[in-house]
Amino acid sequence: MDQLIFVVFGASGDLTKRKLIPAIFELFKEELLPERFAVLGVSRSELSDEAFREHVFYANDHIETVEEERSNFRNFANRLFYQPIQTKEKTDYEKVKNRLIQLDEQFETGGNYIFYLSTPPSLYGVIPEYLSAYGLNKENGGWRRLVVEKPFGYDYESAKDLNEKLTLHFDEEQIYRIDHYLGKETVQNLLVTRFANGIFEPLWNRNYIQHVQITSAENIGVGSRGGYYDQSGALRDMFQNHLMQIVAHVAMEPPISSDAQAIRSEKLKLFQSIRPIPSHEIPKQVIRGQYLASTIQDEQVNGYRDEEGVPNGSRTETYVAVKFFIDNWRWADVPFYVRTGKALPTKVTEVVITFKHPPHALFRQRDHVFGNNNQLIIRIQPDEGLLLKFGMKVPGAGFNVKNVGMDFHYSDLTDAHVPAAYERLLLDVMKGDATLYTHGDSVIQLWKFVQPILDAWESDPTIKVYGYPAGTWGPTIASKLMGPDEATWRNPCQNLTTSSTYSEL
Ligand code: BG6
Repeated sequence: MDQLIFVVFGASGDLTKRKLIPAIFELFKEELLPERFAVLGVSRSELSDEAFREHVFYANDHIETVEEERSNFRNFANRLFYQPIQTKEKTDYEKVKNRLIQLDEQFETGGNYIFYLSTPPSLYGVIPEYLSAYGLNKENGGWRRLVVEKPFGYDYESAKDLNEKLTLHFDEEQIYRIDHYLGKETVQNLLVTRFANGIFEPLWNRNYIQHVQITSAENIGVGSRGGYYDQSGALRDMFQNHLMQIVAHVAMEPPISSDAQAIRSEKLKLFQSIRPIPSHEIPKQVIRGQYLASTIQDEQVNGYRDEEGVPNGSRTETYVAVKFFIDNWRWADVPFYVRTGKALPTKVTEVVITFKHPPHALFRQRDHVFGNNNQLIIRIQPDEGLLLKFGMKVPGAGFNVKNVGMDFHYSDLTDAHVPAAYERLLLDVMKGDATLYTHGDSVIQLWKFVQPILDAWESDPTIKVYGYPAGTWGPTIASKLMGPDEATWRNPCQNLTTSSTYSEL
């Protein structure tokens, strides 16, 4: 890999401390970083290099400290540097440039820079413009890459606008839009499950699949992020990006190869095939909810409106469930149900593929006719793995059928270190591999799908926000999204295989 300098804007912020520096340190320990590299933190706080090292590294609870690794620590910490600037002042970017020239000489990094935007989104347009004012976007003497954190835009117009601003100064090939779900091993494994096996793909279409469900639940509320979250809501925060990226992995056509271009074009095609939800259908196909105060295991928990930073009477959704269709050859008329929420019973993300009934019901399942119970559950997190459910004969007289599960747990595969999402994604941008980053056109296309929902909510106060007690599976009306012949939501628990016997809170 090429030698490089990793420049983080927003370096004194939470993400740098929580995710970025720990991920870079992991890569360093795994000896995956180039021999010559440095990290330059940039933000407004007046910090010295030493104070920055203390803040993001030595006093960082997210970094495991093992005494024997002390020398490793110092080695790493000595490559962390800090440059305070007024981020909105164009002339201050000269300081960044000079600092980079100096570090470049010191570490012989060949002028290769990654600029990582981990700032408030209002600065995403400004920083690239000012970097380019000092020629830091130009690849004459080293490569330059720009990583943009989520959220990529606030709505369709702002996303388009941001994209235009970025591409004014950086080429699409230089831009890496991050969606940390794509860095998750199991989200990538969706592609391997589908395309490295002969047994699933033949069934992976409207002829055999009755419907697809994706659930991404979190058991915590918004905590101290109320101020941010109230401007966002579940549709923008999770659905438009993370969950639709999972949909893409489940539903896209086989790419012609596993390279970035091929995968990205298939995803774009898929997003273009999603049927827009007509405005009169929005109240029926999109259910939004907000968590209410409740008592969970004798503990009183806040409702969303009681959280810090949330205005009284807020109508921001902390839960959303969407039913939609993909109008293409493979998926015509197969419903997709995607839901996500805060303050649900547990933290879990999974995909459930429900297969159609056998054409003729011969047997009984205990007291019912055995019908539709073939499901493939792909667990994204936690207890990552696969579970295939199907009917087996109950031993004894007659032909009674029972549902059984066959499971695989990812943890059985390896004792080796499984990289965290950010580790994988940072390593990829260092290598110049954009496969797991989102393309501008795809992001815009997803906003196009989501925008009418946002508009309807904004303009029509009769569209309900359903309350649900914190610690429950969201508004009960969300189960009405499913048709009478379809299985209902699978409410999973932490453990992949025992959800029918218990669900912990
Ligand atoms: C973030 C959202 O992008 O993803 C958060 O802003 C959410 O609200 C988080 O909690 C979930 O990520 P993960 O990896 O914990 O499932």
